[in-house]
Amino acid sequence: MKKRLLITGINGLLGQNLVKEFSDDHELFGVDLNQSIYTPQQEINVAQLDLNDTAELTRHIDQIAPDALVHTAAYTNVDRAEDEHELAFAVNGKVPKVLAKICKNLDIPMIHISTDYVFNGNAGPYPESASCDPRGKYAESKYAGEQAVLDTWKKMAVIRPNVMYGQGIELKSSFVDWLINKLRQNNSVRIVDDQYNNPTYARRLAKVIRAIFEQEAWDIWHFGSKDIVSRYTFALKIADSFGLPSHLINAISTTELNQRAPRPMRSGLICEKVEQELGISILSINEELALLKEEMYVL
Ligand SMILES: NC(=O)c1ccc[n+]([C@@H]2O[C@H](COP(=O)([O-])OP(=O)(O)OC[C@H]3O[C@@H](n4cnc5c(N)ncnc54)[C@H](OP(=O)(O)O)[C@@H]3O)[C@@H](O)[C@H]2O)c1
Repeated sequence: MKKRLLITGINGLLGQNLVKEFSDDHELFGVDLNQSIYTPQQEINVAQLDLNDTAELTRHIDQIAPDALVHTAAYTNVDRAEDEHELAFAVNGKVPKVLAKICKNLDIPMIHISTDYVFNGNAGPYPESASCDPRGKYAESKYAGEQAVLDTWKKMAVIRPNVMYGQGIELKSSFVDWLINKLRQNNSVRIVDDQYNNPTYARRLAKVIRAIFEQEAWDIWHFGSKDIVSRYTFALKIADSFGLPSHLINAISTTELNQRAPRPMRSGLICEKVEQELGISILSINEELALLKEEMYVL
């Protein structure tokens, strides 16, 4: 019999990539704020509910009786979180603890998605063991969430991705989608050249999640690409991979953007542990962009 997997935020970028990864060999259930984006033929049972509604959430999960849970849903608007910090803390700090308690009661494993924003971004790249020092409300709320789940339940893995991108439908535009659209329309863009990280390709992150379940690897994991680059360099690589005009990409500094929340400037995640312990190779950005291109043309 197929195992029952529950995915929160199933309509989102990572949620959709988890559906691709697990739909053949799992019975899939989802929870999202919005109506299901899946067709009846996909046979995915999606409940439209707010994770902040603890009573309804608990009742729903009890009814499904899943074998495992992946928690991808989050309050993700980094700048708006500076003003809506109560909501950000409720969704990113409190909900994960509620889910961890439910998983503990059901004795099922849970994978929680965190972020590189738990680090201050002054001296990356960071290994999983580095001290956390979140800056800004989004970052603090996500850090509260990962601490809460780790304190609550032992069959718990926390994964930290950074600058996630991938293929999906009806998504809030990711950086890669936004850039491809702009360049295709011949619009020039201004991209910061002083924020560094190693972007995470969501389709391969879904494979890391499968490996963690299969190996029962309850721990903290980092996952991104092999290359740590500035956002500007990432943009040039995207233009090159998709045959788009790179002369439209102009470098600017973060201070010119005047963003509301602080950004980790020298971030990046050291991902050797995933390679050594889970057996998943870390690919270059160009290799992952080639995979994304393949995925886009297949659909
Ligand atoms: N994307 C990145 O660059 C990035 C980088 C590092 C870490 N992460 C982390 O990775 C995880 C997945 O990110 P993602 O890009 O896949 O996010 P996403 O595309 O925004 O998907 C999240 C989904 O969860 C839903 N959701 C939000 N609040 C909810 C609530 N209270 N109840 C039920 N559903 C709710 C969202 O609905 P709405 O769209 O209506 O809000 C959305 O459908 C998050 O934990 C995020 O913090 C993301």
